[in-house]
Amino acid sequence: MSPISAAITGVGTYVPPDVLTNKDLEQMVETNDEWIQSRTGIKQRHILKDPTKATSDMGAEAVKQLLTKTNTDPSEVECIICGTVTGDMVFPDTANQIALKTGCTNSFGFDVNAACSGFLYSYNVGSALIESGRFKKIIVVGGDKMSSIIDYTDRATCIIFGDGAGAVMLEANEEGLGIIDSVLKSDGSGIDYLKMPGGGSLNPATAETVANKMHFAQQEGRTVFKRAVSGMTQTTKEVLERNNLTADDIKWVVPHQANRRIIESVAHMLDFPMEKVMMNIANYGNTTSGTIPLCLGDYESQLKKGDLVILTAFGGGFTWGSTLLKWAY
Ligand code: UT7
Repeated sequence: MSPISAAITGVGTYVPPDVLTNKDLEQMVETNDEWIQSRTGIKQRHILKDPTKATSDMGAEAVKQLLTKTNTDPSEVECIICGTVTGDMVFPDTANQIALKTGCTNSFGFDVNAACSGFLYSYNVGSALIESGRFKKIIVVGGDKMSSIIDYTDRATCIIFGDGAGAVMLEANEEGLGIIDSVLKSDGSGIDYLKMPGGGSLNPATAETVANKMHFAQQEGRTVFKRAVSGMTQTTKEVLERNNLTADDIKWVVPHQANRRIIESVAHMLDFPMEKVMMNIANYGNTTSGTIPLCLGDYESQLKKGDLVILTAFGGGFTWGSTLLKWAY
């Protein structure tokens, strides 16, 4: 293992001010607050309503907060990696817009498209760049403006998703703080169960793709639910076993926030008491790449230097995995 690891030295978050409640959704589709809360745990989600703003604007707000909290001059940041499926445009990358909007002018950057595993994958890529010894300070952003790809007449998807972003600072460290081990997976056969089929090179935008609602996220919820539970459970088990750890050794589990019942099932199968499991889905819904950094932000004051933490996510692709890390502050 490299003597250099990538410690998380700060977290910044941003959610837009407008809120879409379950009661609001009752006026839009045939659903009700009781169904949504009991089936998903979601009470409300934040929505970026300003039509002139995009994912990079939320990412930039999270990064600005992060720079202030960590007392970092933007010129010191060497790279920005942004996990997102709702980049401002197909190209150029959203990470570059975040760099521009935050004054990180010495930074290169790129996006990672791994759906709900976007932050987890980006964090692993950023850490590997630091472990290589070539970089000392990298920002990893996870953020999505899911409202831009949601069909608000489809009750199977519109009740779940929300908008938001979070960012972490990664810094070179020689005390073993940061990622200890990861198990990351993908399986392209999952494409039929969770996707947005329009707008790419397979189905470029036409009047027909718009009429067929191909520019909206489509999900076969039951299959994704089952695969999410088994996927996150297996990779977490694997990462624990190969590091000779048990659930007792872990201080915090930070699961992707897609459905409270998924989170509870994973925790149950792994013997993690819910007090150790970060959960804020009630307030934000599923913000795709935003969920894990938003959790880290909300629980930041409870984390302590040296805590062993598991991050785990599952999303479209399918993509999934678990990362074991040592918290740095
Ligand atoms: O973040 C990326 C990964 N995504 C996920 O992990 C999401 C995984 N899936 C889920 O979270 C759940 O499958 C959903 C929340 C999407 C759906 O919950 P479910 O318990 O799997 O419901 P279901 O699709 O099995 O539907 C059960 C019933 C159906 O009615 P019938 O056929 O039993 O009469 C649906 O038509 O609930 C109905 N239904 C609704 N009823 C009220 C579906 N959506 C709604 C709704 N309001 N919004």
